[in-house]
Amino acid sequence: MCGIVGYTGAKLAAPVLLEGLRRLEYRGYDSAGICVGRDGALTIVKRTGKIKDLRGAVPDLPEGSYGIGHTRWATHGGVSDANAHPHADCTGKITIVHNGIIENYASLKEKLLGEDHVFRSETDSEVIAHLVESVYDGDLERAVKEALALLKGTYGIVVMHSEVPGKIVGARNGSPLVLGIGEGEMFLASDVTAMMAYTKQVVYVEDGEVVTVDPGGFRTSDLKDNSITKNVEQIGWELEEIEKNGFASFMEKEISEQPESILRAMRGRLDAEQATGHLGGLNLSSKELLEIERVKIAAAGTSYHAGMVGAYLLEAMARIPAYAELASEVRYRNPIVEPQTLHFVVSQSGETADTLFAMRELKRKGATVLGICNVVGSTIARETDGGVYIHSGPEIAVASTKAFTSQITVFYVFALLMARMRNMSFEEGSDLVRDLDAVPRLVAEILEDKATIQALARKYSWAKDFLFMGRGINYPVALEGALKLKEISYIHAEGYSAAEIKHGPIALINERTPSLFLIPDDRLRDKIISNMKEVKARSGKVIAVCVRGDDEVAGIADDVILVPKVHELVYPFLMVVPLQLFAYYCALDLGRDVDQPRNLAKSVTVE
Ligand code: M6R
Repeated sequence: MCGIVGYTGAKLAAPVLLEGLRRLEYRGYDSAGICVGRDGALTIVKRTGKIKDLRGAVPDLPEGSYGIGHTRWATHGGVSDANAHPHADCTGKITIVHNGIIENYASLKEKLLGEDHVFRSETDSEVIAHLVESVYDGDLERAVKEALALLKGTYGIVVMHSEVPGKIVGARNGSPLVLGIGEGEMFLASDVTAMMAYTKQVVYVEDGEVVTVDPGGFRTSDLKDNSITKNVEQIGWELEEIEKNGFASFMEKEISEQPESILRAMRGRLDAEQATGHLGGLNLSSKELLEIERVKIAAAGTSYHAGMVGAYLLEAMARIPAYAELASEVRYRNPIVEPQTLHFVVSQSGETADTLFAMRELKRKGATVLGICNVVGSTIARETDGGVYIHSGPEIAVASTKAFTSQITVFYVFALLMARMRNMSFEEGSDLVRDLDAVPRLVAEILEDKATIQALARKYSWAKDFLFMGRGINYPVALEGALKLKEISYIHAEGYSAAEIKHGPIALINERTPSLFLIPDDRLRDKIISNMKEVKARSGKVIAVCVRGDDEVAGIADDVILVPKVHELVYPFLMVVPLQLFAYYCALDLGRDVDQPRNLAKSVTVE
């Protein structure tokens, strides 16, 4: 979603801002712009399209050593040069960039129009520049605070004024903002990746806080001007982790990293001696863990699918009733928080608005909420009562891949821990430790067979519609396979429980609608084979992801993707990887922008 950068120091600001924006491209955007200050004047350059278009359109970048920049993902107002940020006030002396949504912008705009302010865009954001203008009396920080007090909604903003060279004011309410501390220079950004090339010393700005920077330092305070002391933290990622490192795309890189990322998610967390799991950050005693009678999981998109697998694992291993729900529904359902119920929110980015608001609603009602996040220091990671980092390293591609396998790794370890405290024997626990331990190697084996999946993608990428079928623990994997295919290839795809197709979706089957069946060697295999035969009987083409040596399935399906035979609870790790690759290669075959698919944003920070 939208990205923010700000810089003040001794360097030329424009190249720093553009480099920061380039690093934020993965978040998804439709236009970009910068504003640079020099000699008491501000110059704005903004365009629809990509950063390279902006750069190409303005070969002579504005000079000056402080500035702000933005990548916009349209919410209020279409995709146009005028609606791109930065936005200026009437005088052109004040400029702002904004992430989030100003809910009361219409009434504020009406009032400002009545005071003869001239608006140049259709955005909600522009009102901020005019509000600051209307209260500015020489003190930019105070004017920003007064303006913010009038806003309803969410924001991460940075603001500059030509009369205070080198000074930038940032503020946050519901949209991330991070301060980066360099040597005689300061950075502001919505995401640490924008500043990692320059500094690893950061301060996470919290909701309700305002930060004012100049090259020599920073001050944090609240809207009532109480000073706030902040901790300086160190970014844990390396710059090379946010580079493609020879891969054609971030998505291909991230799919390929899974043997290592799954290993990182389980490292130090599997205890072979006690046949159990250890998760340090739960902040729950053994007694509290034993008292848990129910688990509820809230998440969005791929993280929701991981939550569904997690719920299955908890019920299967630990016999604890568990279910996953869409975070966007939890919040508005007035959720019932019951005693002895543990809540999880799952989010790669830790910034997804739906998940964040669901978490706050649950906490408001007294729930204990744990997080499963990837981004260290993210809002969800900081606001939950405890939780587990998946340690996947940065996930840059919009389509989430390695985060999914790491999230289910963490659920597996948690389910094992809960199971061993309750019903599960040492022998069974040992088997499950061994089975998970083998996963990185087995995923690496599947990745070695990429060429087969690429050939299949070429054979089927003509399809306009695709169905994905799975059952039991692999039903969420079918949903995930369909999500991957639709988001990056734009082929319409739906996931179903294979048993459900006879209740409606089978009407879609014909020779032009292929299906992909997940057929592990488990209790439901024979039933899924029957469902596959029903599809074949209606001229439907079938790809089956099945176990090596399953000649019966190979004899029925048109094509097969083979995976090793494993314990039934381990199949999601192995089944999802071919689906990620299938989606990836279909998208490549169709010439899609794999890392930045149309209309999508990596981190969905608005509702
Ligand atoms: O950062 P989160 O895990 O909270 O993101 C949730 C979804 O927005 C995300 O998984 C989305 O569905 C991806 N594009 C899926 O590939």
